Amino acid sequence: MSLAALHMESDSLDPRRFRTVIGAFATGVAVITTAFEGAFHGMTINSLTSVSLDPCLLLVCPRRGSATGAAIRGSGAFAVNIRAADQRDLSHRFVRADIAERFAELDIELGPRGVPLLPGAIAHLCCRVSAIHPGGDHEIVVGEVRTCSDAGGHPLLFHKGSFGAFRGDA
Ligand SMILES: Cc1cc2nc3c(=O)[nH]c(=O)nc-3n(C[C@H](O)[C@H](O)[C@H](O)COP(=O)(O)O)c2cc1C
Repeated sequence: MSLAALHMESDSLDPRRFRTVIGAFATGVAVITTAFEGAFHGMTINSLTSVSLDPCLLLVCPRRGSATGAAIRGSGAFAVNIRAADQRDLSHRFVRADIAERFAELDIELGPRGVPLLPGAIAHLCCRVSAIHPGGDHEIVVGEVRTCSDAGGHPLLFHKGSFGAFRGDA
């Protein structure tokens, strides 16, 4: 079938098809964390994008109804913990585990406004919520980056539903 035929518009695009196709865009993997009402919250995401340099802004997209998204809205602050290639297990934990188990036995340090900084991340960025925009069944949370640190190391990647590592050309 020609490319033009594949792009004939119909009334609605199948969301599963969209998810499969957009999965061609390889991303890094991060865990966004916050502290709200005496508890830590965190979830794995790959919807991380830098937005602006002046001011320093990034965005993340928690789905509507996300517990972590609600906590970020409540606290007004969050940390982005960029996962290392050897942190697949930890990334799974922040998808599936109960909220109480996600932070179990981790050596947590605290950033501004008490946001939890996860160990072993290749980079941390601490943000204040600057705006929250509607985005279909997700929300677009824009964060102003207040502090950041870069520990170095290889990133964990996500592509077509699988985790992998970046090897580079060298
Ligand atoms: C690689 C990967 C990326 C993900 N990215 C997102 C994302 O950007 N937004 C989102 O809402 N959920 C994303 N998820 C799913 C959430 O991690 C999952 O639904 C989690 O349980 C939500 O946490 P909550 O209990 O705090 O709502 C992703 C999962 C994986 C494995």
